[in-house]
Amino acid sequence: MHVSAVGRKAETVAVELGLSSDLLGAACWLHDIGYAPALVQTGMHAIDGARYLRRTGWDERIVSMVAHHSCAILEAEERGLAHELADYQRPPEVYEDAVCFCDMTTGPDGSPVIVRDRLAEIEVRYGPEHLVTRFIRRARPQIIDAVVRVDERRAAASA
Ligand SMILES: [Fe+2]
Repeated sequence: MHVSAVGRKAETVAVELGLSSDLLGAACWLHDIGYAPALVQTGMHAIDGARYLRRTGWDERIVSMVAHHSCAILEAEERGLAHELADYQRPPEVYEDAVCFCDMTTGPDGSPVIVRDRLAEIEVRYGPEHLVTRFIRRARPQIIDAVVRVDERRAAASA
């Protein structure tokens, strides 16, 4: 499963990069919780997940990572929900990048994938006209940059 593989990858990446594995791990295990039908409010899973986590008292650092995961700001703009996302602080770049890396190098079935294949798969899954496809095309350079930055940080940390 995607979510558990992303969560496990986060725990490894956190150790490699000297980040808090409690915070990064929790954010990654929870990043797609907003897809749960009972939690849908705005219809954008990053915001709906963050709202739920804030409501139930999770650490704001985790809430902010879920809210902003994987270039959520661009999806919020596509959906006319940027003002809703503005309720959540942007996480520190190293954490935001790390969530994006774990999410975007893990396929829907939990297997490791390269980021370009992940982006292509999302486009195919949603189809050419879908809002998510428009979003992912806009987000592509930023998502790839985030993955590259994390790879560079991991290489530097292991050198
Ligand atoms: Fe997500």
